[in-house]
Amino acid sequence: MDKLKIAILGMGYVGLTSGIAFSKHGFKSICTTTTRSKAVNLAKGIPPFYEPGVEELLKELVNVGMLSGSVNNVEAVDQSDVTFICVGTPSLPDGSADLSSIRDTARDIGIALKEKDSYHVVVAKSTIPPGTTEEIILPFVEKYSGKQVDRDFGLCMNPEFLRQGEAVHDSFNPDRIVIGQHDKRSGDVLEYIYRDYTCSKIRCDIKAAELIKYAANSLLATKISFANEFSRICEKFNIDVYEVMRGVGLDFRLNPRFLDAGCGFGGSCFPKDVSAIKTLAKNIEVETPILDAVLYTNEIQPLHLVEIVRDAVGSLKGKIIAVLGLSFKPNTDDIRATRALPIIKKLVEEGAKIRAYDPKAATNFKRLVDLPVEYCDTWEEGLRGADLAVVQSDWKEIRDIKAEDFKRLLKNPVVVDGRRTYDANLLKAQGVRYYGIGWKNKA
Ligand code: UGA
Repeated sequence: MDKLKIAILGMGYVGLTSGIAFSKHGFKSICTTTTRSKAVNLAKGIPPFYEPGVEELLKELVNVGMLSGSVNNVEAVDQSDVTFICVGTPSLPDGSADLSSIRDTARDIGIALKEKDSYHVVVAKSTIPPGTTEEIILPFVEKYSGKQVDRDFGLCMNPEFLRQGEAVHDSFNPDRIVIGQHDKRSGDVLEYIYRDYTCSKIRCDIKAAELIKYAANSLLATKISFANEFSRICEKFNIDVYEVMRGVGLDFRLNPRFLDAGCGFGGSCFPKDVSAIKTLAKNIEVETPILDAVLYTNEIQPLHLVEIVRDAVGSLKGKIIAVLGLSFKPNTDDIRATRALPIIKKLVEEGAKIRAYDPKAATNFKRLVDLPVEYCDTWEEGLRGADLAVVQSDWKEIRDIKAEDFKRLLKNPVVVDGRRTYDANLLKAQGVRYYGIGWKNKA
């Protein structure tokens, strides 16, 4: 198995970082995409998105010939021993997962396997509803290849748990590796690929592996919405929600992480995955009051931030508001489901003029959002002469803004902190009027 070659169908965060991790562990990998320019750029070591650490590793691995890009799925599978399906499964209008790319790639794998004599393992890594691997991927591969699972090819489901902004760290240091296997032989191949990883490895049914991913993301999203609900209770009592959650999270049965209250969760995963599993449950007549509440809380939380702005400065008509951070979290240019959108929409509706700054995500935001926003190249430019600052995404350079900067640049030094970025007591002691999610705003 020493010289196993890997095809990765999909060049998003999961596909590309998996390709980097596999090739760094000695397995030559080919990543595919349907966009020619992305494949051309990959050959030059240019990644299709901003993610810390990816560009350096990509250049290194492309230069030594361990990682390459292609637009041809069939060829990539043909030249490999193991294929990982890493295509996107975005939300359809009813909230369910769009599996059209899954079908397309399963068909391509089948076409490639038809001409191959050697044993090949097909691995689903995309986030897919339970049953997808065995009820869609398996029959498509069998149909187009004329081959039989277990005998001619193996089948696994291996969910990915990396976070954007930390993708390189997470793919080299996962907490666990879940291997859903159709038979032992295919699971053994995956176990071999991950042989250098010392974390726990769980071997289970394919459907269990599929659902582990949805359950994990739903529970993480639940923790965040739980902290956000408490943030609103805390504000009424003038209690700091971060103190409360610190006291809660230190219980060994819980965990302090993902209890950071803020203006809600965004990104391409939590909103999409919670909606998908909720829709799936509805279709099979299972009630999901917890998941419904998780999503509802996430809708009201950014609007609650606007209420705090209103409490801080009164009417928003004609006010100039500097919005700091447009990405759904720091260290990414991804704006999918960013809470900046409902916040800015509501501020504009109430008559505010928006100046927005983000270190990387302004271009994406501008391209996808049709709102009257003035985009600034620096946070100084955003703050200069504005009536107040709203923090939506706590990039390091935004975290590093000092009280004296707010005082020097803003008309009045008012900060409304949607991510609890700053030491509130310090800013207040230095003369900034500080308001925050889950903070003692009335004290
Ligand atoms: C999430 C999961 O954390 C990963 O384990 C999973 O692999 C990934 O989805 C996926 O399914 O592909 P990601 O969405 O990239 O990762 O980023 P997170 O760090 O989880 O942040 C998601 C959102 O939650 C962000 O908007 C962040 O600001 C928010 N968040 C996070 C909070 O509001 N509070 C917290 O305590 C943590």
